[in-house]
Amino acid sequence: QSPFAPRHFLSIADLTPTELSSLVRNAAAIKSTVKSGSSIKQSLLGETVALTFSKRSTRTRVSSEAAVALMGGHPMFLGSQDIQLGVNESLYDTSVVISSMISCIVARVNGHDEVADLAKHSSVPVINALSDLYHPLQTIADYLTIFETFAASQSTTSTKSLGLEGLKIAWIGDANNVLFDLAIGAAKLGVEVSVATPSGYSIPDSMREIITSASAGTGFKLTETQVPEEAVKGADVLVTDTWISMGQESEKQKRLQAFEGFQITPDMAKRGGANEGWRFMHCLPRHPEEVSDEVFYGPASLVFQEAENRKWAMLSALEGFVVNKGKIV
Ligand code: CP
Ligand code: NVA
Repeated sequence: QSPFAPRHFLSIADLTPTELSSLVRNAAAIKSTVKSGSSIKQSLLGETVALTFSKRSTRTRVSSEAAVALMGGHPMFLGSQDIQLGVNESLYDTSVVISSMISCIVARVNGHDEVADLAKHSSVPVINALSDLYHPLQTIADYLTIFETFAASQSTTSTKSLGLEGLKIAWIGDANNVLFDLAIGAAKLGVEVSVATPSGYSIPDSMREIITSASAGTGFKLTETQVPEEAVKGADVLVTDTWISMGQESEKQKRLQAFEGFQITPDMAKRGGANEGWRFMHCLPRHPEEVSDEVFYGPASLVFQEAENRKWAMLSALEGFVVNKGKIV
């Protein structure tokens, strides 16, 4: 690899445990600076960040546009109807051309190989804004939310661990892109993860290998079951996502049937024995089948704080990968 090759952010697996902690802490620091009324450095002044999206988005698009604007740059949204992304032109050609004119590509794709391909040929950092395998920006926002809620000390000056060791996350639902990066993050941070999926929807073997090999040996544990209550036992955070990810619409009926009994409700949390004071997270967009209104809009829910944190996570990622050229401290 050339010494001038940019550093890309395609998965949480690309980070060391310290870098993951730093991205979260830096997001917290930027959030506190802006919330206190101070402005942040215009470190992207005059620069353009391309947002190439092959799928719909609310949070990722809005947080990315807002973050780039706050840093003084120009966010250029390029939807699948706008440019020749893999249609009518090879990804290679698109990547070389776009990256010759701008400072970063934020890409939402279908298959992970598409964003990996863009990165391979791009002369500027590529940030994965969701692929079928990973959603790293969501994970940064999720650990920021968990850090704000559970960390004993939220000092933003230290670059040491986030202090989340011993915490337990229960994931109830589909083993998907959001879970994969969340679990890789857990492995790096020493957080326990318990996953409940219906039969036939568990973590693929190759992904389980990636998750467990990310463990920094700090007390990470991954357990898997087909019984939601088993996963919930002793959990501090209950997490889920849609049962039907974008691109799986044709499987809707089959999936709704397979996931019956997996809706997160106060009763499920109680039956399973979640820890007192358990909280609920969901990356959104949410559908009522995976979580009841009582939980989603109830006092245990962190979902809107989590959604807002997407913006602070994006600012931190842009600072680390674009402004500081991949040197994350
Ligand atoms: N959580 C998330 O990525 O939401 P969008 O699909 O709306 O961007
Ligand atoms: N798993 C969902 C996440 C959306 C943010 C999907 O891929 O559609």
